[in-house]
Amino acid sequence: MRHLMRPLDFSVEELDKLFTLAEDIEKNPEKYAHACEGKKLATCFYEPSTRTRLSFEAAMLNLGGNVLGFSDANSSSAAKGESVSDTIRVISCFADICAIRHPKEGAPMVAASHSSIPVINAGDGGHQHPTQTLTDLLTIRAIKGRLGNFTIGLCGDLKFGRTVHSLINALVRYEQIQFVFISPEELTVPDYIIEMLRENNIPFREVRKLEDIMPELDILYMTRVQKERFFNEEDYVRLKDYYILDREKMNDAKPDMIVLHPLPRVNEISVEIDNDPRAVYFRQVQYGVYVRMALLLTLLEIEGKEKENV
Ligand code: NCD
Repeated sequence: MRHLMRPLDFSVEELDKLFTLAEDIEKNPEKYAHACEGKKLATCFYEPSTRTRLSFEAAMLNLGGNVLGFSDANSSSAAKGESVSDTIRVISCFADICAIRHPKEGAPMVAASHSSIPVINAGDGGHQHPTQTLTDLLTIRAIKGRLGNFTIGLCGDLKFGRTVHSLINALVRYEQIQFVFISPEELTVPDYIIEMLRENNIPFREVRKLEDIMPELDILYMTRVQKERFFNEEDYVRLKDYYILDREKMNDAKPDMIVLHPLPRVNEISVEIDNDPRAVYFRQVQYGVYVRMALLLTLLEIEGKEKENV
């Protein structure tokens, strides 16, 4: 039985297979419409989410399966003091697979070690968010046609943004990637990531100004400042509008540069660029459903056995 805790839990070859499956799902959705009939996905969300939880649920429903779960720790037995390890033992009796989001880093790993069903980390604190990374990688692969050989700028809250941490981790395995980290001094990439990049001789730069770097980028990954992980409101207010991607900045970008964002967006991308063909963050949401469908099929070991066009 397999879980997904970190993006590196899958080898590059396994990821390739997963993305090929996701692309086939995109092209032939009817082929997979009954693949998970009789299967249940539990979504255990101890932290607010719209996209990730609904994306998982849509993925399972698209595969003909069912979903159950909770979307608020206060409406679960956690409010009565139940531990994550007990909750997952109970959920294992109700469902075939579980996606868990938790504000505490490492909580999904605790769940996985007590579970008799596959567990997917749907985000743990400021740590990792592997299924967002699968979404980001599939989007890049589908739109740019390659994973590797590009300069990617990651902009915003690089300290607390778990999607950023997961994405950097996953990208270091591909060839010829240059990273540019664009953040205020207070929100730079954590030291453990910088050390990992140095150890692997991966080229990276840290800059403060987005406009200086725009013409060089093939991909720009924007993020919001993670309000809920700040210790004081004052710092958040000072930093929240540090970067705003607008039409003027887009004018300096390459014609085939793409802008990604894990969403939710706050102010960091002006709505005036939503119709720019390079702004692909809403397409990214759709790729998230395909990749989660592929992931459910893979972890439930159904891939390849999908029923033909019923
Ligand atoms: C991200 C998250 O939850 O970390 N959202 C998401 O899953 N799409 C990014 C964020 O909340 O800023």
